[in-house]
Amino acid sequence: MRRGFDGLVARAAALTERAPPAVLGITGSPGAGKSTLAAALARAVPCAVHVPMDGFHLADVVLDALGRRNAKGAEDTFDVGGYVALLRRLRAGTDDVVYAPAFERELEQPIAGAIAVPRGTRLVVTEGNYLLLQRGRWPEVATLLDEVWFCAPDPAVRRERLIARHVAFGKPPAAAEAWVAAVDDPNAALIEATRDRADLVLGPDVLDDVPL
Ligand SMILES: Nc1ncnc2c1ncn2[C@@H]1O[C@H](COP(=O)(O)OP(=O)(O)OP(=O)(O)O)[C@@H](O)[C@H]1O
Ligand SMILES: [Mg+2]
Repeated sequence: MRRGFDGLVARAAALTERAPPAVLGITGSPGAGKSTLAAALARAVPCAVHVPMDGFHLADVVLDALGRRNAKGAEDTFDVGGYVALLRRLRAGTDDVVYAPAFERELEQPIAGAIAVPRGTRLVVTEGNYLLLQRGRWPEVATLLDEVWFCAPDPAVRRERLIARHVAFGKPPAAAEAWVAAVDDPNAALIEATRDRADLVLGPDVLDDVPL
């Protein structure tokens, strides 16, 4: 059996033997490397598309109305029903093209129609924080995924990278640290508790082998 990233590519490619499109889920805490892994897999597996759960972040106009702007990233700040409906549509494989939303990090807002998933796509790689959460409508998500992989990097490395990414996208270092402590850390605790439900847990050795 191949190890490291090549082993993950082989396992993901094997899912495409079923039709219509297979859907692979990748989950893990904020900054765990989900988006990096999903993008790398979508490049490596033929006819694969990366569709992030992050595209279903509620827009600021709605978060303001709910009084939840300062909790962006928490389980109740996503349109989970929209995500479930998109996954169903993708699995059906009947549309000529399905357009998925993306999350724009500069704006910190979702953008509709940003990702095209053409008919003939063999693998959808979707990733996000709450794929295995057992509350609200989140359990519907896992029923639409062929496999779910959990990213489990070294916790200190994950937190450092997360803070660095907040800084890279404009937060002053102290504000980035405060945001991680107030928002990302509690979310991470919730997500870590879902690890046992995953089909595969990816540790630091394999995650360090993922091409950036
Ligand atoms: N193997 C790696 N080596 C170095 N940096 C990495 C590695 N994997 C991920 N990173 C960096 O760590 C940060 C977090 O990675 P990524 O954005 O993929 O995580 P995520 O799980 O999608 O986070 P979020 O939940 O916030 O969307 C990014 O800045 C990314 O470039
Ligand atoms: Mg991400």
